[in-house]
Amino acid sequence: MTNNKKIPTHLAIILDGNGRWAKRRNLPRLMGHRAGLRKLEQMVRLVKREGIRYFSVYAFSTENWNRPVMEVTGLMSLFRYYIRKKVDEIKSEGARIRFCGRKDKIPEDLLQQMKWAEEYTADQNILDFILCINYGGRAEIIDAVNSLIASNPQAPVTEQDLRKYFYLPDVPDPDLIIRTSGELRLSNFWLWESAYSEYYFTDTYWPDFDENELRKALDDYAGRERRYGGLKS
Ligand code: FPP
Repeated sequence: MTNNKKIPTHLAIILDGNGRWAKRRNLPRLMGHRAGLRKLEQMVRLVKREGIRYFSVYAFSTENWNRPVMEVTGLMSLFRYYIRKKVDEIKSEGARIRFCGRKDKIPEDLLQQMKWAEEYTADQNILDFILCINYGGRAEIIDAVNSLIASNPQAPVTEQDLRKYFYLPDVPDPDLIIRTSGELRLSNFWLWESAYSEYYFTDTYWPDFDENELRKALDDYAGRERRYGGLKS
């Protein structure tokens, strides 16, 4: 699946449609999330093969706590399972795992696992695989503003001053954001960082998103002209 075309340095995906995928099959929603996780594992390998350097996924938003308790605890268990069973595989692929989001509300044992996984894979440098869990773009901006204020900065502050306090300040802004399942919105993902991102939407539910779909999205991106507010080059 290699080509000589322009590829995104940072690819971000909003993993949407697990619930509807399950419903269509008369399965519980959690089965949809499990199928979504299997797809994610495959996608990490494909993304790495494409030479993408940063791959981030919106796995759980600051608003997802409002879902039924059973679904929330099921998702937390899926995150635990993933870290327990799959980190070695991820590491052997040369990927570093990073978590992005607020640390409050996440069960203490899961937080410890997340910290361990980050440390355990920190020396890998082929791909940064970023799992946005308990992430919200507005929360990130508010958290950064509060940290900036606490640092007692000299006015006027700049964008760079604020950016230093984002959750992952070294990660470049997403070049391409894909959203599956036919919804046409950002839902509080990478709010600040997406200012100049390209978007790609597909009706496909996340568990059905495949190599072919990824190819289509990357080909589409390769054909886009990014001007960042400037003029045609
Ligand atoms: C949105 O689909 C999906 C989620 C809220 C969860 C995504 C999580 C996974 C794919 C598992 C990831 C696991 C790890 C370890 C990162 P939805 O439930 O809103 O679907 P719907 O809109 O069809 O109901």
